[in-house]
Amino acid sequence: MELNAIRSGNRMLIDGKAVASEKKEKLIRDIASLRSETGIVPSMRLISVGGDDSSASYIRSKMRYGKKLGVNVELTELGEKTTEEELGKVISGFSADSSTNGIVIEAPLPPHLDHTGIAQRIDPQKDIDCITEINQGKIALNREYMLPATAQAIRTLIELQEPERGSTVTIINRSPVIGRPLALMLLNRDFTVSVCHSRTHDIPKITRESDFIVVGVGKAGFLTPDHVTGNSIVIDAGINYANGKLTGDADFESIKDKVKAITPVPGGVGPVTTACMFENLLKAARAQMKNFVD
Ligand SMILES: NC(=O)c1ccc[n+]([C@@H]2O[C@H](COP(=O)([O-])OP(=O)(O)OC[C@H]3O[C@@H](n4cnc5c(N)ncnc54)[C@H](OP(=O)(O)O)[C@@H]3O)[C@@H](O)[C@H]2O)c1
Repeated sequence: MELNAIRSGNRMLIDGKAVASEKKEKLIRDIASLRSETGIVPSMRLISVGGDDSSASYIRSKMRYGKKLGVNVELTELGEKTTEEELGKVISGFSADSSTNGIVIEAPLPPHLDHTGIAQRIDPQKDIDCITEINQGKIALNREYMLPATAQAIRTLIELQEPERGSTVTIINRSPVIGRPLALMLLNRDFTVSVCHSRTHDIPKITRESDFIVVGVGKAGFLTPDHVTGNSIVIDAGINYANGKLTGDADFESIKDKVKAITPVPGGVGPVTTACMFENLLKAARAQMKNFVD
């Protein structure tokens, strides 16, 4: 269980950056061959409504990443008062546009817009964020097509630890971007899954009995030594900013020497998630090309 992990003192750090970098090299090669064989340059459309500050840095980083890979990432910015009908028209336009391969509606949307509802206008073949009922439903039926990038990143990091078939995973999160799809994705690979949330009783009792603990609650210091044992492998999906510093949900300093392995923040789930999003774009471009040829 030491793949893509770095031993540092007593602790094992699961190296998300190294995993992401391998993925990126492969993406660069695959995108270049798609272009040379077919002339197609994959194209991603980001739609942002109201220009929320918290999404601006994610948007910039996707645009930079796209440039490095040699794909088009274009941003459409709409005003804060955009109506559901106006946003729907923009989404439907990109869904019908043959030069667009992937569509992402940036979160958060202003409160008058229902993100999941409006996202159902995205053509499921271009749904690289995996937010449509069709793509989420395919996961539930073990007919996976698109996968939410964060859930896919987490499953990748878990599987790189070469777990035994049937291993136990506790996920502390039940959102549509992490916990719900991840639970099904792990079941699809024969893991034994528990899902916890804000109403769950005695979470430490559940996590202590798990081989893997996935945490994504959005609260710095949430996961404490009480949640873990020497056999725990912790995958920390949390993103929190405190005093200008990025941290996960695990109280890293207090648990790092107690657990078997842990993903750091930054440098764990985050970079792998970005690579997974662009893998989805490439997959979408290939699928759409095939339909066109058919
Ligand atoms: N690394 C990445 O690439 C990536 C991508 C997306 C999100 N994130 C991060 O992951 C975190 C979660 O994101 P999200 O979009 O899934 O957020 P979300 O929709 O707010 O979900 C948070 C989840 O945590 C649960 N929770 C909150 N407080 C809890 C508590 N005290 N005990 C147990 N469970 C609790 C919530 O339970 P209820 O359902 O009962 O409310 C919910 O299921 C955030 O920090 C976000 O920034 C990271």
